[in-house]
Amino acid sequence: MARLDPHSHTDLSQPQQRHLSWTTEVDFEGRRMQATAVLQFDRGGGPVDLDSRGLEIQGIEAPDGTSLRFELGQPEPILGQRLRVLLPEGVDTCIIRYRTGAEASALQWLEPEQTAGGKAPFLYSQCQAIHARSVVPLQDTPRLRITYDATLNVPSGLRSLMAASAVDGATEGGRTIERWRMDEPIPPYLLAFAVGDLASRELGPRSRVWAEPSVVERAAHEFASVDRMLTSAESLFGPYSWGRFDLLVLPPSFPYGGMENPRLTFLTPTLLTGDRSLVNVVAHELSHSWTGNLVTNASAEDFWLNEGFTVFGERRILELLEGQNMLALHAAVGRQALDEAISNFRDRPQLTRLRTKLEGVDPDDAFSQVPYEKGYLFLRALEDVVGRPAFDRFFRRYMDAFHFKSITTEELLELVRTELPGALETVNAPRWIDGEGVPLGAPVARSSRLEAVERLGTGLPPAAARDWSPWEWQVYLNRLPRPAPAELVTSLDEQFRLTEAPNPEVLVAWLTMAIRGGYPPAVRRAETFLGEVGRMKYLKPLYGALISGPGTRPLAEACARRYRKRYHVIAAAGVDALLRKGT
Ligand code: BES
Ligand code: ZN
Repeated sequence: MARLDPHSHTDLSQPQQRHLSWTTEVDFEGRRMQATAVLQFDRGGGPVDLDSRGLEIQGIEAPDGTSLRFELGQPEPILGQRLRVLLPEGVDTCIIRYRTGAEASALQWLEPEQTAGGKAPFLYSQCQAIHARSVVPLQDTPRLRITYDATLNVPSGLRSLMAASAVDGATEGGRTIERWRMDEPIPPYLLAFAVGDLASRELGPRSRVWAEPSVVERAAHEFASVDRMLTSAESLFGPYSWGRFDLLVLPPSFPYGGMENPRLTFLTPTLLTGDRSLVNVVAHELSHSWTGNLVTNASAEDFWLNEGFTVFGERRILELLEGQNMLALHAAVGRQALDEAISNFRDRPQLTRLRTKLEGVDPDDAFSQVPYEKGYLFLRALEDVVGRPAFDRFFRRYMDAFHFKSITTEELLELVRTELPGALETVNAPRWIDGEGVPLGAPVARSSRLEAVERLGTGLPPAAARDWSPWEWQVYLNRLPRPAPAELVTSLDEQFRLTEAPNPEVLVAWLTMAIRGGYPPAVRRAETFLGEVGRMKYLKPLYGALISGPGTRPLAEACARRYRKRYHVIAAAGVDALLRKGT
């Protein structure tokens, strides 16, 4: 059978999952979850192929208690193991008892010392793109949505959270048992939970923020604008479909900036700068409530539909809340990141297309800023052709036409053809969609603040740059040559104390530039920083700079060895890949 999703064993001619009832007990000592997954399909009869990775299957039964035959395939490097269950005629439900594996790729188990409080352990999941299968056996493709209910049993004193609605909770016999439900059909990669010492603060009628008790006040301050963001987003994209928009700030090893888990966005604590300068990440995850969670990519090959549309949405919100000058700075930093990603893919240029072919490619390896920023520029190009009012109408039409659906690039293009006739030809869409790199004449952001920074070139910024936003600093630093003149690096640090920059975006832009010139204070700061955070957006450029900086490769190797236990499995794998590649 030809696979429609190259990253799943799902066979669309077989019964299709509809609902999951999940019951699980979290064992921090053993680092395992003992669980039961009741999977309900649209029909019974015949084999059904599920995805699983590292799961120890203990038994599979029909609802009447009879054992069902099943077959667990050999582990495959990217896909994991196929779990084939034989559903008798008329039996549309199976009950799977299992335990998660010791190395479940979606899970990070943290020791108390890896948390802010230092007293309680912590566990969280990160299922996108194809890690849900390491936690629950199911058809792990975004093509097949499920509703679910869940019961989480955790040591009392800790609490669990799920990206779902809370039903109820109780404490008995030293355990806390909480129940959840998700009534909107979601792709499996949006299944998410966390367990730890967690407290919350109200942010608005539809939002609260969760974090460890010692972090929650800072988090509430940083994200105070979330309700305004939510109303702005609704004014642009239509009513919010998920009820609540809560936030969860994770420990620093969380490998992403944010993850759009429905009703409960997961965020890195590196956003807590005190000045609200990085809240665009919240706007981004909020935008996914429409583009991604309502309209979903059919597979990782169309990932740009999720991320390109979401960056577009994020920047529409940002423009409303912070104005054109800030928007242009963000877009300029985005373009720099895109050019960097394209240059990193010089030996795999096919990954610089919007529509990709990922048979045999792990989606985590294919991840880059290309689907984000090239996708954004393609949509901006279309907007430039038809004008903002027409494009806004199209955007709404897109969400209307495909809500709760999983679509391919072709289905989007079909809609553009009917709704915006001629636009694809005018922008030469095939060059964007299936061509490599960025077409010439792509939209360019302009604003007075951006141009003031660009005019400086490699000159030293004026003293007034002390008031620059982190975004101006990034534009400036990313434009400097590598290596930059040693005197410039020293003067910059003397005048602006960049090695001590409190903003991680500025710090990482500075360190990656200064390490290339072998500036010792930058190398030392990178060494400590790499032990403090596990966000891949920072790990990759810093390890990359140490690997190619003068004489710093051994330090990169030593840091990777020393810190790998602190990183999420996905992040550790990303660092290993960089070290293997050697640039
Ligand atoms: N959904 C992504 C994170 C993700 C992508 C996880 C692919 C796993 C696989 C999330 O919405 C995201 O894009 N986060 C960005 C935010 C940024 C673009 C504002 C991040 O983590 O940096
Ligand atoms: Zn995103």
